[in-house]
Amino acid sequence: MKCVDDFRLKLGSHELVPIMVGGMGVDISVTALAIEAARLGGIGHISDAMVHTVTDRRYHTHYVKDRLKNYKFLVGNPDKLAAQFDLGLLAEATRLHIGRTMEAKRGPGLVFVNCMEKLTMNNPRETLRVRLRAAMDAGIDGITLAAGLHLGSFALIQDHPRFRDVKLGIIVSSLRALQLFLKRSARSARLPDYIVVEGPLAGGHLGFGADWAQYDLPGIVGEISAWLQQEQLAIPLIPAGGIFTGSDAVKYLENGAAAVQVATRFTVTQECGLPDEVKQAYFRAQPEQIEVNNLSPTGYPMRMLRDGPAVGSGVRPNCEAFGYLLDGEGHCQYLEAHSRELARLHEIQPEGHKVKVMDKICLCTHMRNFDCWTCGHYTYRLKETSHQLEDGSYQILSAEHVFRDYLYSTDGRIALPEVGQG
Ligand SMILES: Cc1cc2nc3c(=O)[nH]c(=O)nc-3n(C[C@H](O)[C@H](O)[C@H](O)COP(=O)(O)O)c2cc1C
Repeated sequence: MKCVDDFRLKLGSHELVPIMVGGMGVDISVTALAIEAARLGGIGHISDAMVHTVTDRRYHTHYVKDRLKNYKFLVGNPDKLAAQFDLGLLAEATRLHIGRTMEAKRGPGLVFVNCMEKLTMNNPRETLRVRLRAAMDAGIDGITLAAGLHLGSFALIQDHPRFRDVKLGIIVSSLRALQLFLKRSARSARLPDYIVVEGPLAGGHLGFGADWAQYDLPGIVGEISAWLQQEQLAIPLIPAGGIFTGSDAVKYLENGAAAVQVATRFTVTQECGLPDEVKQAYFRAQPEQIEVNNLSPTGYPMRMLRDGPAVGSGVRPNCEAFGYLLDGEGHCQYLEAHSRELARLHEIQPEGHKVKVMDKICLCTHMRNFDCWTCGHYTYRLKETSHQLEDGSYQILSAEHVFRDYLYSTDGRIALPEVGQG
């Protein structure tokens, strides 16, 4: 009976363990997790989401405070067009975050960065250009283009000296999205080095509509794989979403997948950036607490634990300090929902009452504070992967333990850690 370790992912001259730990922003798939995956011979991801917050936290910069100082005059004004990002500082923060990660990397694997197009940052094209190029300047091994169609992304970097050397991949959830991407990227005379096919059970934002439950990952992977064969395109396919055990992974690898991308199992590891109390909430999660809803101001459906503190909080939008989801015209769906609720409250009760916003979440503020508990479909199974301790909490795992369990598991089995290990 085969296990994941019987397979290898070939990416150019690299031969890797076929496990890719997916990007989890903000500050969830952190440097420590990514470099551990690389040390063990696979691929780890960091994320460049809210990079100023991330570098302030890790490297004691003060980008967020300075930005707030600059744009304080906009507080209370629902039009945030003026709250632009300084592109020089964005490049600087990105180079710091990625450069330090690459310096810390050891071993035979690779570290990629997850770069989401939906982080429009009040100037979608130029901020994306800066993020991608700064990542390449800082020596990243690869960039996974995520959360968007990325039709113009190759064009933004095609004159960069590393354009043909850095590994470039795209996440898609349908053949149609892939076809659109390949058509546009062909203008840069370059194919992606890998394609992550993300199904409806993945964590975080989904590339599906409200009918997400009608799709299944094996079906989408099969359709894309058949089309690539027909077009004689040999691009490694990497399924993602709901691959919970090594045996789940082996099924895809035996059917021709080049590797798998996994994330949920790593959210409860020591190296993951989530605070311990959030890891415990993930362990405790029951199936009925995990929902896909429309609370994200990006407009994409998002999977999350519905009991997290972000839901219904009504926090004041903090675009002066953050503003990562401003659309280029100074708008964000949360900003609008908050203004609407504020106006409504004012009509009935002029002073002193707290606004509640039930239909959207201030993603920047709450992701920054780890209060928006995005998660994968199988989060409720995490309790099967560890020991419950005497005080009712669960033993936090080491990323190495989870990685090795994916590598060697057979028969759908999940190896428990040694008590106290991790
Ligand atoms: C907590 C969490 C946060 C995530 N954040 C992102 C993200 O910022 N960008 C992205 O492209 N995918 C994100 N994902 C998706 C993962 O990278 C991955 O593709 C997917 O969750 C794999 O499925 P699994 O979690 O069932 O293993 C996230 C997943 C989780 C669990």
